[in-house]
Amino acid sequence: MKMEQLNRYVRFGMAMFLLAVCLPLGPFNAGAQSNTITVQVDKPRAAVSPHQFGIFFEDINFGADGGIYAELIKNRSFEFPDGLLGWSKLGAQGSMRVLERENRQTNNRHYLQLTGSGITNSGFRGIGLRSGAEYLFSLQARNTGGAPVNLRVELVRPNGASGQPLAQVKLRGVTGDWKTYRATLRATAAEAKAQLNLVVENSGAVDLDLVSLFPKATWKGRADGLRADLVQLLKDLNPGFLRFPGGCIVEGRNLQERYQWKTTIGDPAERKLIINRWNMEFRTRNPARAPDDYFQSFGLGFFEYFQLCEDVGAEPLPILNCGMACQFNTGELVPLDQLDPYIQDALDLIEFANGSAATAWGRKRAELGHPAPFNLKLLGVGNEQWGPDYIPRFEAFAKAIKAKYPNVTLITSAGPTPDGERFNFLWDKLRGLHAELPSVVDEHYYRPPKWFLENANRYDSYPRTGPKVFAGEYAAHVTVPGRPDRPNNWEAALAEAAFLTGLDRNADLVTMASYAPLFAHVDAWQWSPNLIWFDNLRSFGTPSYYVQKLFSGHRGADILPVTINGSARNGQQQLYVSALRTAKAGEVILKLVNTTAAAAPVRVNLAGAGKIAKQARAIVLASDDLKTENTLDAPARLAPVERKVTIEAAEFDYTLPPQSLTVLRVAFR
Ligand code: AHR
Repeated sequence: MKMEQLNRYVRFGMAMFLLAVCLPLGPFNAGAQSNTITVQVDKPRAAVSPHQFGIFFEDINFGADGGIYAELIKNRSFEFPDGLLGWSKLGAQGSMRVLERENRQTNNRHYLQLTGSGITNSGFRGIGLRSGAEYLFSLQARNTGGAPVNLRVELVRPNGASGQPLAQVKLRGVTGDWKTYRATLRATAAEAKAQLNLVVENSGAVDLDLVSLFPKATWKGRADGLRADLVQLLKDLNPGFLRFPGGCIVEGRNLQERYQWKTTIGDPAERKLIINRWNMEFRTRNPARAPDDYFQSFGLGFFEYFQLCEDVGAEPLPILNCGMACQFNTGELVPLDQLDPYIQDALDLIEFANGSAATAWGRKRAELGHPAPFNLKLLGVGNEQWGPDYIPRFEAFAKAIKAKYPNVTLITSAGPTPDGERFNFLWDKLRGLHAELPSVVDEHYYRPPKWFLENANRYDSYPRTGPKVFAGEYAAHVTVPGRPDRPNNWEAALAEAAFLTGLDRNADLVTMASYAPLFAHVDAWQWSPNLIWFDNLRSFGTPSYYVQKLFSGHRGADILPVTINGSARNGQQQLYVSALRTAKAGEVILKLVNTTAAAAPVRVNLAGAGKIAKQARAIVLASDDLKTENTLDAPARLAPVERKVTIEAAEFDYTLPPQSLTVLRVAFR
């Protein structure tokens, strides 16, 4: 070897040594070398639960009232404790006051007496109007003044802004008996924060109740229906299940304010309104929030929840109060010997969902317009309970339910944290009970992104003989100094994606998973981050939404063993991988997460796949900037992009973009 050549080798060797010593081992160099991902396509390990990824629904952040429930009038029947909340008088003339009906058994006792004047309702942080769209107005009214009365109904821009009403109609000749009046209004322009005016003409006097306004274009055009754009976002998730109605609202701050499903079915006007516990929680988090106007009208009640599940193709998963109020509030307890009515509610709910029209509760369902059963298979006993009081209450529920409905799968609580004393206590007890009273244990983790990365192997070592796991509430929480909310950014969603590959790998054990919370109104939230944000007209999915969508939309039938560089440990070189196989079509579904800031070349070996199709699909969610967020104005700044890729053989090279989640679907024979 010539001297000059030798010098070159020495210089090169030193340069490589320096590079290795100087470069951080962190995110920036991991992608440089190629890693080998080997999938045993012909050796499926276990079956995936058919309802693996789903939706957690709670009326928090205006999720139901002011959100998916499309009613646009707040305090429509004057039943809020402050009967005039949401309403104000137009002009100085006349008077208005809330009165109570006498001698009538009703949950809708109150009505408004209006004399010689007009009133306005500001909706839920305004009323959203779309240009050209139709709105269905109705109210109950009676004329109390003797003289003929006409009522003018107007939709106007906010706060007395001048100009023509955006829609107007006149209800003529209101008579002396209570009657329902209806009209259709067509908006001439878009307005996100419109108001509804009701003006009494001819200086008359009227009593008013149940003032209601719905967009005509609700989901499936149903009367009293749901907001179509929000339901569509849910359907697009391809959810395996829908958990409802929460969350802490199941428990209530005290037992009086717990969620009681029987009060949420039937005539919407008679559904007894209660305060939403989120009205009081975390008041200071969102400076824009107006206080004390967040109630549960139950316009979205249990019948509608079941219907929604059917509409979006999700298994219904109701969660019921187990005789314990929220332990973050009063922690009020029902004595064990007084638990029967609570247990009866659970038994009746199963009959309501599944019973034939010959049964008492099945008949009620049929009368509400759904003769066919809803086919309920999953039921939660308590929400986020903890401590020794929970176990005997669960046992009492479980014994009664199992005796009558042995095929219903019960969900139990592991408390509010994913580890620690409370968590271990409940797991020990529930494992011990499992042989007699099996359940799926609901774990909750609201943790920083780091936790999600570190827990990608969490379930690898869970015993397979005990209860299955429901990852029932999770979200990566990023805190930004000076920001009141925790952002729904790519940093959070990418960490969730890495973690979810661990759920895919353990889908025999973790049979269900759902992000929480689901919805938030940009002007009325108490909690962040959330999966979907909206205002009165628009909505968007966060990066976390798209992560959920990719995992839920690409579920497989069988788990395939997968290794990174020969090891089954997930997260090596900051790569997180899961592999599934579809039932019929013969496709491998790879989910590949690269959390490094560099592109990561990988060599993929689909061992035992036989002949593969050369055209594969790659669906990619990626951003160089971990701070990336979607917004109302840029709803798809970060959204999946699909492209076709050509692969030559069952062993092929592929490059994962920096900070990306890739779903790779390869067909094989
Ligand atoms: O998702 C928000 C809340 O977090 C839920 O209501 C509760 O179950 C948990 O504490």
